[in-house]
Amino acid sequence: MNRAAPPAILTVAMIDGRKPWTIIAAVDRRGAIGQGGRLPWHLPDDLAHFRRTTMGHPVLMGRLTYAAIGRPLPGRENVVLSRTLVRSLLPEEVRLFAEADDVRRTYGETALFVIGGAQIFREFFPDVARLLLTVVDADTGGDVFFPAWDRTAWTLVDRRRHPRDARHAYAFSIETYVRKSCGGCGDPSGLLPALGRG
Ligand SMILES: NC(=O)c1ccc[n+]([C@@H]2O[C@H](COP(=O)([O-])OP(=O)(O)OC[C@H]3O[C@@H](n4cnc5c(N)ncnc54)[C@H](OP(=O)(O)O)[C@@H]3O)[C@@H](O)[C@H]2O)c1
Repeated sequence: MNRAAPPAILTVAMIDGRKPWTIIAAVDRRGAIGQGGRLPWHLPDDLAHFRRTTMGHPVLMGRLTYAAIGRPLPGRENVVLSRTLVRSLLPEEVRLFAEADDVRRTYGETALFVIGGAQIFREFFPDVARLLLTVVDADTGGDVFFPAWDRTAWTLVDRRRHPRDARHAYAFSIETYVRKSCGGCGDPSGLLPALGRG
């Protein structure tokens, strides 16, 4: 894997009505993201990428993903969406919302990361300007899936490959997509210079 320059963390402006939000997800070849309430793989370098990328930013997740993680992610504002969780039973630092639109209103101008799971990816897919997808070279079965998405509406701006090795049972690629929301202007998010491609 090319470790020289991780994808730039951006504070992107509102893009054609989209928010400066990023979905960060890991999918297998068929789009599976989970199995039995957990991730279907253990890929330490992908977890390190997730930690490095999201650190210092709000992370938005559904109740089941919060339960799977089991604690607030350190160094990040943990935003949990649920209609059933009880505020008083959560750690003080967790921000709990019952309505998706309240999250949109509160964080609409913020470089927030949507971290799953499937229900949350589906709910907020139309809002985000950027996708950071780890594509795992595996077919895990899985019981929850990333939503189907129209690749023609997105530009792939970066792909970093990681081989299978002693610590990683599967090879994977970390792919960065930005939404083509700007007609012919080519760089709607201002991302490309930051990635050395401008
Ligand atoms: N590979 C990856 O990148 C990745 C990332 C994250 C998670 N995962 C996996 O994905 C699985 C979990 O995903 P999931 O889809 O089953 O669950 P989820 O999206 O994590 O959480 C679903 C819950 O979020 C709340 N919710 C969802 N939409 C809502 C809305 N519009 N308004 C209010 N609350 C809402 C509901 O909680 P209430 O029922 O409490 O109302 C719902 O039951 C696990 O296997 C996990 O390991 C994979």
